[in-house]
Amino acid sequence: MSEQQVKLLEGKVVAAQMKQEIAEEVARIKKNGGKIPHLAAVLVGHDGGSETYVANKVRTCEEVGFKSTLIRYENDVTEEELLSKVIELNNDADIDGFIVQLPLPAHISEQKVIETIDYRKDVDGFHPINVGRMSLGLPCFLSATPAGILELLKRYNIETKGKHCVVLGRSNIVGKPMAMLMMQKAYPGDCTVTVCHSRSQNLKEMCLQADIIIAALGVPEFLKGDMVKEGVVIVDVGTTRLPSSTTKSGYKLTGDVAFNEVAPKCSYISPVPGGVGPMTIISLMRNTLLAGKKEIYK
Ligand code: GUN
Repeated sequence: MSEQQVKLLEGKVVAAQMKQEIAEEVARIKKNGGKIPHLAAVLVGHDGGSETYVANKVRTCEEVGFKSTLIRYENDVTEEELLSKVIELNNDADIDGFIVQLPLPAHISEQKVIETIDYRKDVDGFHPINVGRMSLGLPCFLSATPAGILELLKRYNIETKGKHCVVLGRSNIVGKPMAMLMMQKAYPGDCTVTVCHSRSQNLKEMCLQADIIIAALGVPEFLKGDMVKEGVVIVDVGTTRLPSSTTKSGYKLTGDVAFNEVAPKCSYISPVPGGVGPMTIISLMRNTLLAGKKEIYK
């Protein structure tokens, strides 16, 4: 396959379309006197990545016409304080959905926080009830990155039925749910799924057999040109911030795929940045819209 035939999975473009669709729906709700969806985000500390992600989420809320509330704590907030805020948000009728940005400081149990969130407001889809319902193929809040990847595959009409999908990484946020969704009897889905991770012995062999690779290891440029077959579809979930002297921010987002050597072999590949990242944020907006409209849980 020649280089000219490689197509980009342009999350940035798809997310812009979805943003427009959501904004139109919010305008309709407003016109009909309905309730404007309201997302709250809780941010603990000043981690650079988390600051950027949360700022983007809040800005996107404004752009689609949602209400948003940002609640900030310093790193020394106690678990008890944070849990009582979660309970307050659970009981606040104006808040349709909320997220607690991860990671949290080591003295706070992320699992306890997640399990305290009312699953009906868990627009991150991290609560065990949402994860369990996803596994069973029941209506639920799907976590934003896997949901964004499915939407990206769908809007590019990527064939998935019967294909071999290799998921690199087994995180609760991406790898595990992605594997579960790609094997689901659905479109996108119906794949034979292999999950590889840091302890896999035959990772390269598996990748060479893959029709679709979803790279979510968090290791910059891990996937090399000699690890993939011609015509493969690649979704790059990596977003490692590497120091850079050529950007204003002082860092460069780097994916898990060595793009320059891998792209010429692909039928489709998502770039970093501009691929999965924008799809993640817009999927959170879609979950918030669904929460506002009580479409999943009454
Ligand atoms: N940290 C990295 N990704 C996410 C996400 O999707 N949601 C939250 N809450 N924290 C994250």
